[in-house]
Amino acid sequence: MYNSYPEEVIEEVRISNDIVDVVSEYVKLERKGKDYFGLCPFHKEKTPSFSVVPAKQIFYCFGCGKGGNVINFVMNVENLSFIDAVRLLADRARIQLPEGGDEEELERAKLRKEIIKINTDAARFFFNNLGNNEKAVSYLKNRGINERTIKRFGLGYSGEEWDSLLKYLVSKGYKESDILKSGLILQSKKGGFYDRFRGRIMFPIFDLRGNVIGFGGRVTDSSLPKYMNSPETLVYNKGRNLYSLNFAKNSGEKRIIIVEGYMDVISLHQSGIINTVASLGTALTESQGRLLKKYAEEVVISYDSDTAGQAATMRGLDLLSNIGCNVKVLLLPQGKDPDEYIRKNGVDGFRKLVDNAVSLIEYKIKILKNQIDTSTTEGKISFLNKAASLLSKIDNSVELEMYVKKIAKDYGISEESLFAEISKKTKAKGGFRKVVVNSGVFENRPVKEGSSKKDDKLVHDEQFVLALMCLDNSLYKLVKDRLTVDDFTDENNIKVAKIVFEKLESNKGIVSAELFNLLDETTANVFSRLINEECHCDDNKSAIMEKIRSIKLYKIERRQKEILDILKNDKSLDEGDVERLKIELNSLVMKRKSI
Ligand code: CTP
Ligand code: MN
Repeated sequence: MYNSYPEEVIEEVRISNDIVDVVSEYVKLERKGKDYFGLCPFHKEKTPSFSVVPAKQIFYCFGCGKGGNVINFVMNVENLSFIDAVRLLADRARIQLPEGGDEEELERAKLRKEIIKINTDAARFFFNNLGNNEKAVSYLKNRGINERTIKRFGLGYSGEEWDSLLKYLVSKGYKESDILKSGLILQSKKGGFYDRFRGRIMFPIFDLRGNVIGFGGRVTDSSLPKYMNSPETLVYNKGRNLYSLNFAKNSGEKRIIIVEGYMDVISLHQSGIINTVASLGTALTESQGRLLKKYAEEVVISYDSDTAGQAATMRGLDLLSNIGCNVKVLLLPQGKDPDEYIRKNGVDGFRKLVDNAVSLIEYKIKILKNQIDTSTTEGKISFLNKAASLLSKIDNSVELEMYVKKIAKDYGISEESLFAEISKKTKAKGGFRKVVVNSGVFENRPVKEGSSKKDDKLVHDEQFVLALMCLDNSLYKLVKDRLTVDDFTDENNIKVAKIVFEKLESNKGIVSAELFNLLDETTANVFSRLINEECHCDDNKSAIMEKIRSIKLYKIERRQKEILDILKNDKSLDEGDVERLKIELNSLVMKRKSI
């Protein structure tokens, strides 16, 4: 690791720069399936072997073996140090890096801090107001929000006067010009200042670190606009944050539910469903998608079931699955939102809906069914045809069969006709795509000087385990009972293992692209090859178990050899030493059997 910015800042920079966008500024990319290909900028070639994998946010060249995340790409292509590449990308995403050298940067950092202080004081002010306002208190009470939840989310109330917050903040010593930059006040044409939020229930918005970065404010009646939100400021970017992710990320759950509104999040949270977030009054963005991917193994979209909600669901599904999220849709009864549903049907009712959430394919087919009148023959054919089109995109035959069975049953069509229709489509595309099977071979591996072939295998197996864990965090449960950081032997791998194990132990999660923040160039190339070529296993669990076994076996064999060697050659051993070594040798034989 050779950086001087905090790890989470580097991650923020990485997540905020989509690798396809960045690479496209240098390389002409062409999309093939889910990935992109182009001519490698790092070696001479006539046919493209350079690939970018948006789902994993990494690049890899099958020709020259260079690979890594977006930061590595910029380092290579611009010939920059790690730090400078991070700076360039931070600029590109308009992210303020901490400290830094030049005056302007320092000034902005100071201002950011000041705005967060202003926001925090404003949140306290709104919170303290709430108790004094009968209307606000009874509004929240009527919506079933209890005292504890109000405290947890820091809900508040902005008074009806024109400038109560402004007065308060000025009395605390803040400058009007700074308050203006927080977005909490506005300037009239005549030049006077007044509060942006008046007579509204206030929802502070926190970032991942728990800073108050902005606010949403809801009226307590049916007047419009229903919500007002903070504008974009130096500290608040609504497309890059998710409401309540600060709580959801620590819920210990593998999935995160995404809902539309502040009130939905709060209501579910109060019922104990903490793994819920809301996009902040905008359509889901890719940045938000990548955040979700980082903190959840599965994302469940739970938007309103109205037409607007359906459209947003479709968009969200495509966006999330394109960046490689496992995504499902929770089906709410017509006209309900999660808040209403849980209040009427209780938490168990809602949990059932979560468990019955449908996959992308099922959801699309369901919507299709709603759009087509299948009571006519024409309609039936059209439905069958379009459903087959959707199903033909599945390239795993077991999965395909499962879906065909289910859909045939659900919609009363025969499995045979559905299969026949699908195979027509796949033939048109050139047959079923081959599923990549892990071959376990590793060629072109750079051989380090002075190390034996066998040691190379050990180093490689360690790297495989680490890479696969980053691709599939759920494997950690398996690994941690069998391997510890101390079991790793290669110096680089130990460094990486320390970080990976610590993140997974504390439920923070790690994605493969994040791994590259920690690697030097040579190791980055090795890991990108692993991730792109080797770690495509049919069954991650058995693949990782096999590697763990081989690591253990190798270590045992190495120690056995070492002991035999000492026993044979070391003339200075006394009887006790010999006995001890023999006992160890025996225990190694036992250990070997138990692997
Ligand atoms: N929203 C907004 N501006 C509006 C309306 C909505 O920013 N004029 C955003 C808010 O973040 C809101 C979300 O879109 O939380 C969803 O809107 P809606 O479903 O109308 O709001 P709820 O939070 O469900 O509020 P309520 O249940 O109180 O009507
Ligand atoms: Mn609602």
